Amino acid sequence: MFDYKQPLKEIEIIKTLEQLEDFFQKYLGKQGTLTLAFKEMAALSPEEKKEAGKVLSEAKAILTESYDIKVQELSIGQINEALQKDLVDSSLEKSSYTIGHRSLLAEVRREAEDVCKSMGFIIEYGTDAVTKFENFESVNIPLTHPATEMQDTIYLKETDPRGEPLILRTQTSAMQNFMIKKYGVPLKAVVPGKVYRYENMDATHDTMFYQLEGIVVDKGITIAHAKHMIEKLLSAILKKDVETRMRPAYFPFVEPGFEIDARYEITDPKTGEKTMSKWMEVLWAGMIHPKVLETAGVDPKEYSGFAFGMWLSRLAAVRYGIKDIRYFTNGDLRFAKSF
Ligand code: PHE
Repeated sequence: MFDYKQPLKEIEIIKTLEQLEDFFQKYLGKQGTLTLAFKEMAALSPEEKKEAGKVLSEAKAILTESYDIKVQELSIGQINEALQKDLVDSSLEKSSYTIGHRSLLAEVRREAEDVCKSMGFIIEYGTDAVTKFENFESVNIPLTHPATEMQDTIYLKETDPRGEPLILRTQTSAMQNFMIKKYGVPLKAVVPGKVYRYENMDATHDTMFYQLEGIVVDKGITIAHAKHMIEKLLSAILKKDVETRMRPAYFPFVEPGFEIDARYEITDPKTGEKTMSKWMEVLWAGMIHPKVLETAGVDPKEYSGFAFGMWLSRLAAVRYGIKDIRYFTNGDLRFAKSF
C-alpha cells in the first residue's frame, strides 16, 4: 500500500523548483506512483477499495499540500535571490564630476546677440560654407582682386552651380548680400558666427574665430550713426566704457572704411597693478560701397548704410583679459576651470 512517509521525507530536502517538478511527476503526475495506485484500486474488492481509498486520499491530500507549500517557499526564495543580485549598493560613492560652464566665446556671442536684439537688430547665422560670389564678389572683391589674398581661404571639394568650389567663409561680410536680398531695405541686422582662414596662428590669430557682422541700410545713414552705434555696442559687450580709437582702413566693400581699436588691459589679480596695456584691433567698419548695394538690388542714390565686423574672439580676450585667443578653442581644462 502507498505510504506517504517516504515522499514527505523527500520533499523536505528539495532545494530547487526543478527538483520539485520531478517530485510532482514521480508521485502526483499522470504516471506518478500515487496516481497509478488510484487506478490499481479498480482490481480490488469493494472492502479493500474502501480501505485503500481512505489511505490514498489521505496521502494525496498530504502530498498535495506539502507540494503547494514547497512551491511557495522555493518561489519566494528565488525572487529574493534575484532581488539580492540586483541590489544597488547605495553606499557606493558617486563618481565626482562638476558642472561646467558655457565656452567664453559662446558667452560673449550670446551677450552680444542680446545687446543687438535690444537695439532692434535682426539676428541671422547664415552658413559656414558659402560661394565665392557671396564671400568675395557680392562684396565688391573680384576673384582676381589682391584683397582675396588678405584672407587666405579654405576650399571645399563641393562646387556651386557655376562650378566654382565652395569655401568656408573668411568673413561674415559674406552674408551682407544674402541679408539685403532676404529682408530688403531698410535693414538692421547682425550675423554672429564662425569664420575660417588659413592663417599662421599666433596669440591674436587662429584658423577659426568668431566675427559679428552688422549691417544697417536706410535713407540718410551717415558715419555719425555708425560711430555712435559701434561705441554703444562695444561698451555694452565689454560691460564698461571702453576707450576706442578709429583709424582709416581699406576694405573693398566700404568707402570710407576704418579700423577701431579698443584699449586692452591686464591687471594682476593680487596687486591690482596693470601688467599690460595696449591697443587691440577689434572692429572694422565703413560706409557700404555703392556697388555692394547695387549688386543686392538697392539703389545707392536713394539708400546708404554702414557695415561693421567685430572680431568676437578678440573682444572676448579683451573682456576676460586673456593673452592668447588660442586658449578659447584648444580644450585646455586648466583654462576652462579658471573661469
Ligand atoms: N569683413 C572684414 C574682415 O573680416 C571686416 C569688415 C566688416 C570691414 C565690415 C568693414 C565692414 O576683414
